[in-house]
Amino acid sequence: MFTAPVFSPPFIGLNGNVVATADAKLHVTDLALLRGYGIFDFMRVINGIPLFQDRYLARFQHSAALLGLEIPLSITALKAHIHTLIAANGHPSAGLRLVLTGGFSPDGYLPTTPNLIVLDAPYPAPKPEQYTEGVSLITHSYVREIPEAKTLNYIVPIRALPQIRKAGAFDVLYVDPAGWITESSRSNFFLVTKTGVVVTPHDHVLPGITRGVILQLAQDRYPVEMRPVHIEELQTAQEAFLTSTTKGAVGVVQLDALRIGDGQVGSITQALHHAFLAYGEAYLAQNKTSGSL
Ligand SMILES: Cc1ncc(COP(=O)(O)O)c(C=O)c1O
Repeated sequence: MFTAPVFSPPFIGLNGNVVATADAKLHVTDLALLRGYGIFDFMRVINGIPLFQDRYLARFQHSAALLGLEIPLSITALKAHIHTLIAANGHPSAGLRLVLTGGFSPDGYLPTTPNLIVLDAPYPAPKPEQYTEGVSLITHSYVREIPEAKTLNYIVPIRALPQIRKAGAFDVLYVDPAGWITESSRSNFFLVTKTGVVVTPHDHVLPGITRGVILQLAQDRYPVEMRPVHIEELQTAQEAFLTSTTKGAVGVVQLDALRIGDGQVGSITQALHHAFLAYGEAYLAQNKTSGSL
């Protein structure tokens, strides 16, 4: 039986038009449905302002290019479309999901003209205890395909949900067969070495927007390295944390049976999370006064 989704905005953006949700339909031959061929992005909207919009749209363009998909709107037109949709839906604070599909495919394989969906999505506010207590992860042997692109493929982590639940963990940490860490299911990974260096894996990861901002903020405060990170380093690390749009920086206090550092959320993690929040506030204030939304 069909039940209405909990979060059902009145309007959805479809190929540059703002249409009533009931009319926002794609044909079942879309390659996103038949083969999982497509990309997306996800940004926060706060008080009607899409936070760090230019960074997200640049990544969306990059993901599209990596899959050979053309966004049917210019970036200027896409920004205007996003603005119209936010105003029409009247949800000043939400998530905003952009999806670009492989298009309707007559033979179920060849990409055609991409379809662009812009969807007001719920913003899953993190639980406050994640910041005070930290989270635990379980290792999962995997490296994402085309890791630079934010593709629609989340088969591996969604399939691992029962395992994560069984372990009482928060999420997975992807590790390759030789023990090199890449990222988590929807977050980037950082550690702080015993000498206080902030380190994040350089290759085979999604260029997270939060990761980018955190790196920028960390560079002014601490020694920073972007390089391969081996799981062995966690034995001696002081701190570890995840970064993502929905979380900012969240401390990781345990990986499998290993307690990280002293098992508490570290001071550098906390400082970077607060610096990230302040940077976001400043962005919102600036974009409000300049009216550049
Ligand atoms: C695989 C993966 N890595 C990292 C991230 C974090 O990226 P961002 O900070 O842009 O949310 C995400 C976000 O969903 C992701 O899916």
